[in-house]
Amino acid sequence: MTEKLMLAGVIGDPIAHSRSPRLHGHWLRRYGLSGHYVPLHVTREVLPQVLDLLPELGFRGINVTIPHKEQVLHLADTITDRAALIGAANTLTFTGKGKIQADNTDGIGFIESLRQSAAGWSAQDGPALVLGAGGAARAVVSALLADGAPRVHLINRTRARAESLKDHLGARVHVQDWTKFTEIIDDVALLVNTTSLGMTGAQPLTLNLERLRSDTLVTDIVYTPLQTELLRDAAARGCRTVDGLGMLLHQAVPGFQRWFGLRPEVDEELRQAVLDQ
Ligand code: ATR
Repeated sequence: MTEKLMLAGVIGDPIAHSRSPRLHGHWLRRYGLSGHYVPLHVTREVLPQVLDLLPELGFRGINVTIPHKEQVLHLADTITDRAALIGAANTLTFTGKGKIQADNTDGIGFIESLRQSAAGWSAQDGPALVLGAGGAARAVVSALLADGAPRVHLINRTRARAESLKDHLGARVHVQDWTKFTEIIDDVALLVNTTSLGMTGAQPLTLNLERLRSDTLVTDIVYTPLQTELLRDAAARGCRTVDGLGMLLHQAVPGFQRWFGLRPEVDEELRQAVLDQ
């Protein structure tokens, strides 16, 4: 009998620093599955050919990272509602006869990470304040709205980008200026940084947290460093905090389940495996 190889991977340009191979590799070993998950350096020029070829080679699906997350929507046969709403996909599944399903699991990864690390938390707890209006913000805001957040305040350096996100996602999104930060902060149940500020090598995220309530949950999608200045300052004020690694781990769950047939656990062992890079 010939064994059927289970193949999956991640495409991007650059790809060397992706943590996804380590993450999926850990699950494959842990569950004793004879599959492989590989990083593939794919440039824009060859993206359509690569997507044609991968199912032929036995790939069941792939994760998609920079710069292909938007482009793959044009090459997919079906697009989930949440990927269409976000306008980008991070998870492709080859469904047979070369058909491609595009999904975006970043938002659900964000929500699941908060649910796991902040027991009892719900988006319905109260208004949220989201900093940033890029691709990550789109996923975070749409997931918060889908999960019942009553209001999402949005602050971004480039206001027009926040306005366009609001136009896309609807009336519960309220675009605010940075000058309103201290006013809004004492009324929110959740504070989220989706900008790259505070990341190792980037500029710091400087916020006045004096009016931050101690029952506000604070999270950062930056995970290098794991404990950002925002999370440290919020914890010092008595707030519960959730680091950005959880979102990365949880967004990988639906793809692994679809491709390898088993819903994997996100636990401390996985966190360590991904951090030991
Ligand atoms: P991603 O897809 O990871 O969200 P992105 O689309 O490049 O990445 O978005 C990065 C976010 O960080 C944006 O909200 C960006 O603000 P602008 O829309 O004004 O560019 C924000 N950001 C990056 N560098 C910043 C800086 N120095 N000051 C303020 N905001 C910054």
